[in-house]
Amino acid sequence: MADLPKDLLTEIKSLEEAFTVDTTKLKQITKHFVSELEKGLSVEGGSIPMNPTWVMDFPDGYETGTYLALDMGGTNLRVCEITLTNNKSEFDIVQSKYRMPEELKTGHSEELWEYIADCLQQFVETQRSDKAPVQGKIPLGFTFSYPATQNYIDEGILQRWTKGFDIDGVEGENVVPMLDAALAQRGVPIVVSALINDTTGTLIASAYTDPKMKIGCIFGTGCNAAYMEHCGSIPKLAHMNLPADMPMAINCEWGAFDNEHKILPRTKYDIIIDKESPRPGQQAFEKCIAGLYLGEIFRLIMVDLHDNKDVHIFEGQDIKHLRKPYTLDASFLSAIEDDPFENLQETADLFKDKLQLTCTQPELELIRRAAELIGTRAARLSACGVAAICTKKNLQPCHVGADGSVFNKYPHFKARGAQALREILDWPAKSNASEEDPVEILAAEDGSGVGAALIAALTLKRFSKGDV
Ligand code: GLC
Repeated sequence: MADLPKDLLTEIKSLEEAFTVDTTKLKQITKHFVSELEKGLSVEGGSIPMNPTWVMDFPDGYETGTYLALDMGGTNLRVCEITLTNNKSEFDIVQSKYRMPEELKTGHSEELWEYIADCLQQFVETQRSDKAPVQGKIPLGFTFSYPATQNYIDEGILQRWTKGFDIDGVEGENVVPMLDAALAQRGVPIVVSALINDTTGTLIASAYTDPKMKIGCIFGTGCNAAYMEHCGSIPKLAHMNLPADMPMAINCEWGAFDNEHKILPRTKYDIIIDKESPRPGQQAFEKCIAGLYLGEIFRLIMVDLHDNKDVHIFEGQDIKHLRKPYTLDASFLSAIEDDPFENLQETADLFKDKLQLTCTQPELELIRRAAELIGTRAARLSACGVAAICTKKNLQPCHVGADGSVFNKYPHFKARGAQALREILDWPAKSNASEEDPVEILAAEDGSGVGAALIAALTLKRFSKGDV
């Protein structure tokens, strides 16, 4: 990078300053995070919702039965039939994926439920393994991955849309009767028996095959975590007089961490992302980390360096494609970071194909560095959330189950996150490479499918015993 033009080097330096989160800052963020987790459990509440989920048990691996699961994430809709077999911790899965049409995300409530009911109907009619006519109604675990208030397990009052969704007529409402009504109208023999967050599903599905798993995380379109609390440590549930040692999975909704902008380093690009989003002021942490936003942060940097700086990257070229908000997703950034060529040839091709822009060699170097800075910041900030839960619950040693496109596909995300955890939690250097860290973030089982089925099974088991 030494022979880059001076003005480009200056820009890279200032990006490095804006996006680098050093160890001291990581520790400060984690400390504040711990107190915000506590606050969210208090009667007064805080910015992190810390939603009780009524998932009150880990599976023991001997759950059995066939369940339907519906996964409404940020990008796709997935319907699954999961059979928990008689062999401990083993399952079979049949599934269909449906693309969530873009226009639905900002449409009206009825269109959403109709689309989902249609997908479920199609699945039941064509994919079910049992071809005999359905007796009664099939119980469905509905993975609805948005912040929801639950007074019981088959309820979910949407607190607010996240991940760019903005569908009228759902916020403040219980989504379960809405879906049930759309199903009943079509005569589809399904009833929602549990509403589940993807993080809770991930926690439960991971613990099913690895009992050391104590936290479930999603690093995908959105970002969030769930862990098991004791009811005695949840002051906002005290009025229910639940036994103090009774477990309760908490969906943190940690994307909302630092909505009041006290601690996270914010760049001018983060401020624009927030302002232009359908819910300004919400999901401050998520907007720095989640897949939905990584490409957009990058795009804003590129536009800024073209329009406002002395460097004028892409000089003399029409950047109309680059000007389109959300035109670049996290996979674009992944491809840049993955470019194996010294001369960044793949990145140059990518810019040509997708944006009709020709990059000079120094511009390519800046592009690569910008992608690295955004990806590294995301991974390092994510580690603060994991470290905060581990600290609050004294969980070391443990495993953390993680899922989502950023965790699974973004280059170096895992290694960068692990490095940040080491810095935050002050672990000594490993004596050999195969030694485990006290907290290992590992690929999770399918939480939104298998996790949802397990939660449906655990719920039925609990109700059959007459518990809460
Ligand atoms: C958003 C949602 C949250 C979900 C996460 C990952 O943060 O609010 O419920 O768990 O995305 O999908």
